[in-house]
Amino acid sequence: MKLIHLTDTHLVAPKERLYGLNPAVRLEAAVADIRAHHADAVLAIITGDLTHWGEEVAYAQLRSCLARLPMPWVPMVGNHDRRAACLEMLTGAPRDANGFVQGWRDTPQGRCLFLDTLDEGSDAGKLCDRRLAWLEETLAATPREMPLLLFMHHPPLAVGIHQMDRIALAESAHFARVIEPFRARIRHLFFGHVHRPICGSWRGIPFSSLRGTNHQVWFDLNVNAEHLTSHEPPAYGVVLIDEESVVVHAHDYMDRSPRRPFAVAGLDERAYAMGAF
Ligand SMILES: [Fe+2]
Repeated sequence: MKLIHLTDTHLVAPKERLYGLNPAVRLEAAVADIRAHHADAVLAIITGDLTHWGEEVAYAQLRSCLARLPMPWVPMVGNHDRRAACLEMLTGAPRDANGFVQGWRDTPQGRCLFLDTLDEGSDAGKLCDRRLAWLEETLAATPREMPLLLFMHHPPLAVGIHQMDRIALAESAHFARVIEPFRARIRHLFFGHVHRPICGSWRGIPFSSLRGTNHQVWFDLNVNAEHLTSHEPPAYGVVLIDEESVVVHAHDYMDRSPRRPFAVAGLDERAYAMGAF
């Protein structure tokens, strides 16, 4: 089974730029690449910061970009989003009984759970009691034989980049307690927010994150480092899942560096490798 993970698209009003880049143009390039190479994916998930300012025009722009995806897609909210505008403009967004942008969807490799960690007015992540109660009920109601895949915007752990760790998920310990009885069935945790390719494990749960499709967060582990955004290349994730493994590829879809075969029949391999690229 193949999934597409997109994150931090940060759309703005049409023709506006964000940190010197046009978010819609870069998202359109991602969608075109996905159409060309991964039309067989069963689902695409966008883990929040769909827009930068939470404006309705930006959600409309996102909707028109993503409408060209050949598979169903699930938009999630991040700290830059506005819940009401997201739900108003994106009718396919998940929604729980309390109006949070949360939900789940079953796939051939298990149940995907989408969490709403938005705390409007703050950049940090929040899972309030009502959202955690929904999560607990949903996990308990999932058939025991079903594996679980979790998606959220804010990481529940510190990744070592001080300025991002300050605005990670606040209720990490509470969240950990809720998922603990189901931990063995959680095959992977996907998040956004950090605008960087990071993978590892948290409390035994494998996780991965990705660069966004617009601007990035510069890598610096110094606690006194200035918080910098960068034009490192955008990426999207291609996730391959079967009974044995979860494989996450981060694809720099706008990379235009030269490529050529490793070897050419009839040419001396050494001379070819040492020749001009
Ligand atoms: Fe973001």
